[in-house]
Amino acid sequence: MTGKGLEGVVAATTALSLVDGTAGRLLYRGYAIGDLAAHATFEETAYLLWYGRLPNASELAHLRAQMAGQRALPQRVIQIIQQHNKHAEPMDVLRTAVSALGSTGDFAAPPTVEQAISLTARVPIILATFQRHRLGQPLIASRDDLGHVANYLYLLSGAEPTFSQVRALDAYLILTSDHGMNASTFTARVIASTLSDLVSSITGAIGALKGPLHGGAPAKVAEMLEAIGTREQAEPWLRHELEQDHRIMGFGHRVYKTDDPRSLALRKLAGELSTEQDAEWLALAHHVEDVTLRLLEEYKPGHKIYTNVEFYAAAVLRGVGLPKDFYTPTFAASRTAGWTAHVLEQISDNRLIRPAAEYVGPFDLAYPALAVRAS
Ligand code: CMC
Repeated sequence: MTGKGLEGVVAATTALSLVDGTAGRLLYRGYAIGDLAAHATFEETAYLLWYGRLPNASELAHLRAQMAGQRALPQRVIQIIQQHNKHAEPMDVLRTAVSALGSTGDFAAPPTVEQAISLTARVPIILATFQRHRLGQPLIASRDDLGHVANYLYLLSGAEPTFSQVRALDAYLILTSDHGMNASTFTARVIASTLSDLVSSITGAIGALKGPLHGGAPAKVAEMLEAIGTREQAEPWLRHELEQDHRIMGFGHRVYKTDDPRSLALRKLAGELSTEQDAEWLALAHHVEDVTLRLLEEYKPGHKIYTNVEFYAAAVLRGVGLPKDFYTPTFAASRTAGWTAHVLEQISDNRLIRPAAEYVGPFDLAYPALAVRAS
């Protein structure tokens, strides 16, 4: 029997990302994510993940044009998005709309890099389509002169985003586009290993990402800060949670037993983005982080629990003006690049992923007739 939750199990080989939980290091195909977040764009990073190397200028221009050319959604998918109740969870809408793309005929198996590009280009469009629907605003057309990130922000708000908003969201998407064999990537690879199609893999991955132990935490971080409200309330509120053995969202990681390099980068970004209006919110976040780390040492000694990516993701996504329930869907938008790259890697050297389970139930029971079973 292996560790519960498959801890420490090597489920695949990958050349996509190295997650070094001891040194606090994350590399995409050999490049440190800090360098990519500081200098690259999301499109460049996605190219690196899909093709295995950074693009030259004309390859990047070609990819940007390809992605811009894939932004229109089939009318049927727009209708499906607009049939949702305005109070629907955006992650549910995203999962349904991505799944609906599967029946358009554009994503027949086997998965291809062109399909990966198309799906990655379309996830933000699905999200923006739902946002405008629930606000009762008309759809606006994408702008070919805007990159992937700027166009997403433009479609959401109807206004051209500022340079610093685009840079911050670009950096966020880069920092979260891949992360080894996390639960949603594993889900995507398991589905791909059955030789299913790309949309099925990504639909499953979105479902896995949604849970609060994976990608569902950042909105809960924002809710926690709202519930805490003031610096004075932080310690009693957090103690109360820990006394009840509740998890504090935005802390702890299966792999990182030191600082998560993404959380350090996002912490810095959040500071750079912060306006006067946000400064108070961010100051509370810093205080809550300090108190939580101290209390986790007290309540969970020896567990080495650090701040994870989701804590400051909430601050950055808030800073660029996203609504709270768009934090996890925007994480899905970035991770689609990683998921699709993993699917392509999986099928390039495939073997069905089919682990075993250790049976712990009873043996050889005699079948009792329905009439004699206790009610
Ligand atoms: N708050 C309180 N206790 C915690 C936390 C936390 N955030 N994280 C871990 N622990 C405790 C846990 O209660 C357990 O204690 P005990 O042994 O006394 O029962 C111990 O630490 C080990 O927990 P575990 O669940 O076995 O550890 P894991 O490595 O499987 O957990 C985790 C990883 C992310 C599920 C967990 O840290 C957690 O639930 N964090 C809160 C939710 C969160 O922030 N999720 C986002 C994860 S990062 C995004 C991503 O990469 O997907």
